[in-house]
Amino acid sequence: MKTTITERANAKINLTLEVLEKRSDGYHNLKSVMQSLQLCDEITLTRTGDGEVIVTSNQNGIPLDKTNTVAAAVGAFAEKTGVTVGGLTIHIEKKIPVAAGLAGGSSDAAAVLRGLNVLCETGLAPWKMAEIGMSVGSDVPYCVYSSCAIVEGKGERVSQLPGMPPCWIVLCKPGFSLSTPEMYRKMDKLELTVRPKTANVLRGLRHQDLDVIAKHMGNVFEEVLTEEQRYVVDGIKKAMLDAGAIGALMSGSGPTTYGIFTELAAAEKSMEPLRQAYREVFLTQPV
Ligand code: C5P
Repeated sequence: MKTTITERANAKINLTLEVLEKRSDGYHNLKSVMQSLQLCDEITLTRTGDGEVIVTSNQNGIPLDKTNTVAAAVGAFAEKTGVTVGGLTIHIEKKIPVAAGLAGGSSDAAAVLRGLNVLCETGLAPWKMAEIGMSVGSDVPYCVYSSCAIVEGKGERVSQLPGMPPCWIVLCKPGFSLSTPEMYRKMDKLELTVRPKTANVLRGLRHQDLDVIAKHMGNVFEEVLTEEQRYVVDGIKKAMLDAGAIGALMSGSGPTTYGIFTELAAAEKSMEPLRQAYREVFLTQPV
């Protein structure tokens, strides 16, 4: 029986994000096309003798207690499978920006579910891990698959799609973080004016046409930004588009903003001014 395993926890971007009606459970129904990226955290699970779950990380400032999504994932796995997980250390090697709209915490939780499935020899199918993951967070079911998918319901309906054609993606996190529940609360008070064209993005994916995908990307959370926040996000988008991006958008509930490039040189060029202004700028590709 294996005692240790390292799993990748990929970041994601939203190519489209529509928020539909508010549900009776307080959540919202969504329709979102998500694409996983090569940028990832690495989660190492090691079984230990005693019964404790100890979480460590290379990054200061993330909670290492029960509130961390990785600890919640262990609890959900044990409860839903009835397996005694026993002692475990979980090391999170963090590279994905935190509270950034890139599903870092959800992806870490999904990696724990995949890792435990191997270590505990439970043989769960992905759909079952996704079902368990839903009790940890709405993006966790998607992150169990980590590919390109359309996500519906409150996050539990994941239908896989052909991934984006090869391209370069520049990510830039502005110097502020946004709280997802707060962004939803603010959205409830707004009359949204723009609705992303999800069907067109689906067509772009089906035809592997990056221009169609880039042209129709959209995220309703951009409308929820304050004027100051929007100024920052628009500035990042402009820097990317000026350097040759074929599309730029904020991801998830923000604030990380990404640009899609067909040429590596243009992607790298866009990063120069962004790196002068922002600490967290990354070059990556779809998985
Ligand atoms: O499930 P997760 O912890 O990622 O969600 C964070 C918060 O975002 C929820 O507490 C809820 O306020 C909001 N949310 C929502 N509808 C969704 C997903 C999240 O209202 N489909």
